[in-house]
Amino acid sequence: MTTKVPFFEYPRLWSDDREEFLSIIDNVSSSGGFILQKAVSDFELELASYAGSKFSVGVGNATDGMEIFLEGIGINPGDEIIISSHTMLATASAIKVVGGTPVPVDIGIDNLISIQGIEEAITPNTVGIMPTQLNGRVCNMDVILAIAKKNNLFVVEDAAQALGARYKEQHAGTFGLASAISFYPAKVLGCLGDAGGVLVNDKDLYHKIYQIHDHGRGMDGEVIRWGRNSRLDNIQAAILSFKFKTYDNVIKRRREIAQMYQDRLELLEELQLPPAPDVDSDNFDVYQNYELQADNRDDLKNYLNQKNIGTLIQWGGKGIHQFTQLGFNQVLPDTDKFFKRCIMLPMNIFISDSDVDYICDSVTEFYRK
Ligand SMILES: Cc1ncc(COP(=O)(O)O)c(C=O)c1O
Repeated sequence: MTTKVPFFEYPRLWSDDREEFLSIIDNVSSSGGFILQKAVSDFELELASYAGSKFSVGVGNATDGMEIFLEGIGINPGDEIIISSHTMLATASAIKVVGGTPVPVDIGIDNLISIQGIEEAITPNTVGIMPTQLNGRVCNMDVILAIAKKNNLFVVEDAAQALGARYKEQHAGTFGLASAISFYPAKVLGCLGDAGGVLVNDKDLYHKIYQIHDHGRGMDGEVIRWGRNSRLDNIQAAILSFKFKTYDNVIKRRREIAQMYQDRLELLEELQLPPAPDVDSDNFDVYQNYELQADNRDDLKNYLNQKNIGTLIQWGGKGIHQFTQLGFNQVLPDTDKFFKRCIMLPMNIFISDSDVDYICDSVTEFYRK
């Protein structure tokens, strides 16, 4: 029998819990509560309380969430917001859509936004910093918040990949004015389609975000401002509440897999692995992805492909500053170098210990054959 380890088995998202999902869909649909009903408000409470945030608003997806909170904060044309170049285009596009200017900076040794990069990118037009808590790991928020304070900037987070990740015991998504979490199917907490959540502590900003996500209406239905429609679907909310019950076990399993990769691959000097689960006492990572850097990356990817092992190069292998057709012209050598070497190995709860063994044997074989 040939072993096959897909990068992510999407059909299993449905098949592993099919009976539960059918009953959730039946319950929500037969109650007639499709839009902004109890399933959404219940999930919003669960999400806020889990992350330790005062409020949360369910939205259509994390990209909308970022656009909405930035609109709530109020961005003026020409306002610059500093982001990492190693993030999804959505981080940048959310800023652009609300009239601001995304300013990508290089990555640091942790592959997250470079602290030096932030400091060098600050201009009189800078209004905020939006770090991405990438791959389920929170940036050094003490330093980022200190820089923001010193320069009178706001901090917001792209926490799309990081629900449950912590820095000094504080949850991703709770460090700044607001953050967005993604529930895209392959996310650590994924649903059966698009969905997102915004976390926010300030009551006034919470009300603005709530209004913008529902046509500018307040909770009593009265129109207060211009808005849009980006509401979390009730069926997806009920599915998320169901999956939330076992969320900590999912994180535990992902951390176990990361430790297995670490134990099996750490001796290969051709690889640069991400931090192991317990290596930094300040960080608790949830491993949305297991992204490493590899010598001969393209050949390794082809070799693993021949072995029926799925791998992925994040964002199609481009940092934000490399989208020159969108007007970016920054020179970011560390990010350029990173994107020539990065690759993600399978990381999800569908893979078994023996799958991890097979992957590690194959990677080792590639470098030692
Ligand atoms: C870092 C990051 N930001 C933003 C997004 C966008 O999330 P969504 O697909 O929910 O809009 C993603 C999703 O892949 C992401 O990984």
